[in-house]
Amino acid sequence: MHALAAPSGPELESLLAPLGDVAYTADRCAALADLVREINALKRTRHAVILAHNYQRPELFQVADFVGDSLELAREATRVDAETIVFCGVHFMAETAKILNPTRRVLLPDLRAGCSLADSVTAEDLAERKAQLRAVYPDLAVVGYVNTTADVKAECDACCTSSNAVRVVEGLPSEHILFVPDQNLAAYVQSQTRKSIIAWDGNCYVHHQITPEQIGAVKAALPHVRVLAHPECRRDVLALADAVLSTSGMVRYAHESDATEFLVVTECGLSDRLLLEVPGKKFYKSCKLCHYMKMITLEGTRDALRDLQPEITLPEDVRVRAARALERMFELGG
Ligand code: 13P
Ligand code: SF4
Repeated sequence: MHALAAPSGPELESLLAPLGDVAYTADRCAALADLVREINALKRTRHAVILAHNYQRPELFQVADFVGDSLELAREATRVDAETIVFCGVHFMAETAKILNPTRRVLLPDLRAGCSLADSVTAEDLAERKAQLRAVYPDLAVVGYVNTTADVKAECDACCTSSNAVRVVEGLPSEHILFVPDQNLAAYVQSQTRKSIIAWDGNCYVHHQITPEQIGAVKAALPHVRVLAHPECRRDVLALADAVLSTSGMVRYAHESDATEFLVVTECGLSDRLLLEVPGKKFYKSCKLCHYMKMITLEGTRDALRDLQPEITLPEDVRVRAARALERMFELGG
């Protein structure tokens, strides 16, 4: 955690390697300001909007038309009537925008921006497991976290995000739920429902590495700190949290709470949004970075707008089936 030993030497170098230039020197800031101007001009000529996830680099918030969590971004994607959506986030988020708004051109500035959770389940493995379990539990429903590929979503009865997973599970008529792919979110949902949750064994490498010992050490040093944790964290970490929330849920909580100091137990980028939007309160951050999220840069965003690629495309039959699971999520999960 931020308050404890900071990495240094080769450890620090290996952590920073995928991030590129992260030193906000005066020269770098001037270069970023030029890029912001260039991107804003390109947005107008390309009739484009930029949607950005809360974990993006803070300079991307300066060009984004909308910043939010997965649920807010999915909803916002359905409302875009501009020709082009540039998605500053990871691959499954850009795919979700394309699934929900297929007549728009959707660009992802760097196709390497994946997700360890999305990688932990394939459509073939899910179809096989679903068939095995349905033989035992005929009422089984499959709930897929949005952090999945389009062809995995196409195998699901409903999707969910971190902010509506419990509502979606509760809203389905089935008593047995196969929950893919996050074992930690599945355990959290199980703690909130009487239904029977069968978990896949995936996890987010960013959240899964956070330990209760790290949280305990910060709480011991700062007993008054309010601990906000993302449900992708381990169960023993969530047990130490004052609130379990999606990324935007944390932003709302920080605004509304009478507390002034928070330990933000999620990817570090969210703390940048909190610092920008909630001045006067203090945020201790976890120093955990998602290298996939950080692959998106202003330079890459400018190039995507200029070249109108890389573009997200999907086979129509997969898109239609995935859209059904996402629409069910909106219906049940708000
Ligand atoms: P949120 O939907 O809470 O923003 O989470 C997305 C994500 O990828 C968390 O790791
Ligand atoms: Fe995926 Fe974790 Fe990165 Fe979110 S933080 S995009 S779940 S790897």
